[in-house]
Amino acid sequence: MRPPQPSPVQVPRMVVLASGRGSNFQALIDGVADGRIHASIVRLITDNPGAYAIDRARKEGIPVSVLDYLVFQDRTAYESALFREIQDAGADLIILAGYMRLLGEPIVAAFSDRMINIHPALLPCFPGLHAQRQALEYGVKVAGCTVHFVTHEMDSGPIIAQRCVPVGEDDDEETLSERILREEHDCLVEAVALFCDGRLEVTGRRVRVR
Ligand code: GRF
Repeated sequence: MRPPQPSPVQVPRMVVLASGRGSNFQALIDGVADGRIHASIVRLITDNPGAYAIDRARKEGIPVSVLDYLVFQDRTAYESALFREIQDAGADLIILAGYMRLLGEPIVAAFSDRMINIHPALLPCFPGLHAQRQALEYGVKVAGCTVHFVTHEMDSGPIIAQRCVPVGEDDDEETLSERILREEHDCLVEAVALFCDGRLEVTGRRVRVR
């Protein structure tokens, strides 16, 4: 008789939303593959049929849902379809990895403390679009990135991790963005790994690592 087999370890099911190039998505793929993140990426959802993130997912055999925003009648219809995809995928955790739309109330509420975003600035400075440009125009000497839980207000949920980079006198938007992006990948993987290991404790705005 065969000895009883150990039951497979259940890891969180992660759904990634991305709108473009997907280098942060790739960092998550690599983080799962090299064992830093104990989770499985069960689906990529994108609002952009031309997103390079789609190619990255297909290469890895990760299922993709393309919800082209333009084909929906309105935002409510888009959001309902998005919510259905997320639920069908059985998501435990949602990562916004360069997802360029605001999410509606029902999804945010359903995934409170289970949805994570990466933003290319040291929040609460420079929320919203073109964060690196905002930082340069303001003249800061230090910039960086923030990984945070998603709440109803844009780029303002409890902060899980941040990384700093220096801003040089010759930096332009492109060079600064590249420097920040390198930190984003590591910061995102670290934060998601902590979440998946159940090590994050949220009290109000404070996130503690246990
Ligand atoms: C990143 O800078 C991310 O912080 C921002 O959008 C960019 C996406 O880059 N939200 P990528 O698609 O992950 O390469």
